[in-house]
Amino acid sequence: MKKLFIFVIFLSLANIAFAQDSKIESKVNSLLSKMTLQEKIGQLVRKASLKKNTAGLIREGKIGVMGYCSPSVRDSLQRIAVDQTRLHIPLVFAADVIHGDETTFPVPLAQSCSWNPELAEKAARIAAFEAASNGLDWTFAPMIDIARDPRWGRIVEGAGEDPYLGSKMAVAYVKGYQGNNLSDEGTIAATAKHYVAYGAAQAGRDYNTVDISERTLREIYLPPFHAAVNAGVASIMSAFDDLNGVPASANYFTLTEILRDEWKYKGVVISDYNSIGELMNQGIAKDKQDAAREAITAGVDIDLVGDTIVDDVYSQCLETLVKNKVVPESLIDRSVRRVLRMKFRMGVFEHPYVDTLFFKKNMPSQKYKNNIARQLARESIVLLKNKNHLLPLKKDIHSIALIGPLADDQEDLLGPWSDGGKAEDVVSVITGIKNKVSSGTRINYAKGCGILDSSKAGFNDALNAVKKSDVVIMVVGESRDMSGEAASRTKLGLPGVQEELVEKIEKLGKPAIVVLINGRPLTIDWISKNIPAVIETWFLGDQAGNAIADVLFGDYNPSGKLTTTFPRSVGQIPLFYNHMNTGRPPSKTDKYTSKYIDSPVSPLYPFGYGLSYTNFKFSDLKVDKEKISVNDSVEVSVKVKNTGKYAGTEIAQLYIRDLVASVTRPVKELKGFKRIFLNPGETKTINFTIVPKSLEFYNIDMKKTIEPGKFNVMVGGNSEDILTNSFEIVR
Ligand code: BGC
Repeated sequence: MKKLFIFVIFLSLANIAFAQDSKIESKVNSLLSKMTLQEKIGQLVRKASLKKNTAGLIREGKIGVMGYCSPSVRDSLQRIAVDQTRLHIPLVFAADVIHGDETTFPVPLAQSCSWNPELAEKAARIAAFEAASNGLDWTFAPMIDIARDPRWGRIVEGAGEDPYLGSKMAVAYVKGYQGNNLSDEGTIAATAKHYVAYGAAQAGRDYNTVDISERTLREIYLPPFHAAVNAGVASIMSAFDDLNGVPASANYFTLTEILRDEWKYKGVVISDYNSIGELMNQGIAKDKQDAAREAITAGVDIDLVGDTIVDDVYSQCLETLVKNKVVPESLIDRSVRRVLRMKFRMGVFEHPYVDTLFFKKNMPSQKYKNNIARQLARESIVLLKNKNHLLPLKKDIHSIALIGPLADDQEDLLGPWSDGGKAEDVVSVITGIKNKVSSGTRINYAKGCGILDSSKAGFNDALNAVKKSDVVIMVVGESRDMSGEAASRTKLGLPGVQEELVEKIEKLGKPAIVVLINGRPLTIDWISKNIPAVIETWFLGDQAGNAIADVLFGDYNPSGKLTTTFPRSVGQIPLFYNHMNTGRPPSKTDKYTSKYIDSPVSPLYPFGYGLSYTNFKFSDLKVDKEKISVNDSVEVSVKVKNTGKYAGTEIAQLYIRDLVASVTRPVKELKGFKRIFLNPGETKTINFTIVPKSLEFYNIDMKKTIEPGKFNVMVGGNSEDILTNSFEIVR
């Protein structure tokens, strides 16, 4: 007994994890040894929805993973798997929980503008808890694709254009969904998707081809996935795109050489919806057999199938492929091992059913959930313009004209991908404002037009409402289905006649505020020039109206910063902050430099941009050493002062530039950020450590390296308005 006690004390945490792992490994091996080929293949099939033959297929061991079913249907299917199959292997249920389940949080692009991964993690924790209570074991989230093209509708699902911030958000979501231990009740397995470079679709057209260099792949698109793997993500989804000639769902280089060999990833890879069958359309598979062979060989473990003619590739083909010795059974075993390992890690063998009692007892209160949703929504809002301090408005203002198709809307404010969310739970902008203002304030509401309508019949009412009000708030933007999957756009202005409405109202000369609700950067050049106050609110979910009112009336001082560059026009796309320098950087005076003849080259709003009701002044940017060796770190300090009248949070951003290297390097790369709260007049010194790892890049031989030479260090409140210092790496 004593011996055991001492043994337990000295068993390090890592050893405990290892012991658990080896226990799981032996369970996996023992189960695998009893499985028929057909049963093995069953574990590699995820069916999207309930069909007439689903129960029968489960009974025969032909389905290992199901899509969302209501908790009672789920448990009845689970009973078949557990009680009526030969080996009693439980099913797991997997579906998309992208920004909340029952409680809808801001869309991920919005969340990223909070630059607050800890808060995003809390939201993901709530989402996981709710989803688990509704019978899900596994979510197809987070989407951690870097997106540099706002035409691509799925930009809304990720954290924007930067790999550093994208990696931080990726880790936060993985931790939020998976908790400390996947087998704990209320956790769900996360899926890092879409592996990889799906966001680099040519022309921003969804599902389109991607052709990028290995350097761009490794430096821009892979880092969030690597971070998710290091954070223990349970699964990865292989993407739809054709990546440099080899579709992502048949790409041995990314799925095996990078993911498994380099990163030592042990989890599951699941295809995207029919992406294995679509290998035929992509022209690397002549039939389903070929497609199945390509995918399993490259390293896709599970076929996520739908209901179209290219579905069910694994279930229809793998058996024959193995029997004909085209695919070795060891490949099937390898994938089944990964799936079983995940199921054991999830604890689903011990607890196959939804523990309703547990969730009843332990579900966080709706008040707590709403508080997190409201805080995240407030922090997601980006103040783009605030001429002459028009905002915040006074709560006892006499009258407000509230105009626009999204002012009295609930459904759209949910944003795309909110299957569990309900429109009636959403606080609309009009309700949020009504709850905020004094009882004497008159709100003159007029819709003005629909989101997409071409009719201007409502303009007159809107103009009349404005005429009799002290100030006008125009709530305009996109509908929820204009972003997300299969929602690419070629025009990024306000849809329909909304911009015309805004222009007509502006002519009336009343103090005007535009509240944008949308899923991507919009080209709002005119609005930004002519409307004195503009706030970007994205799709904020349940607490949208409250959060927007908090900001409009000064109960929350906006702190959000853009995580995606706003172009002036579609013609500038792709436009992102971490580009290379050219041999002829744009110059106003020299025609033969890299620019446009019909537009400024600069963005409308740069990466990292966002105003506050107060002002922050950065000063005294210092580095502790001017010269370091390649293994040294550099301590950076900077003073930030709140020079305005309101308390507020600034997000200090640290960028570096490697000035001369053997390959060209970006003009700026984000390497750190800090949220800092300051009272009026207060100054704080903040510190960053630049570790050697953040100075690494891929050299000409695609080896990670740090080269001697000078580096600029830049710190500021956005990627353009920054102080610069430097240090040098010496041999
Ligand atoms: C999307 C994925 C999603 C899957 C399952 C696909 O069309 O690309 O992001 O997880 O469907 O719903």
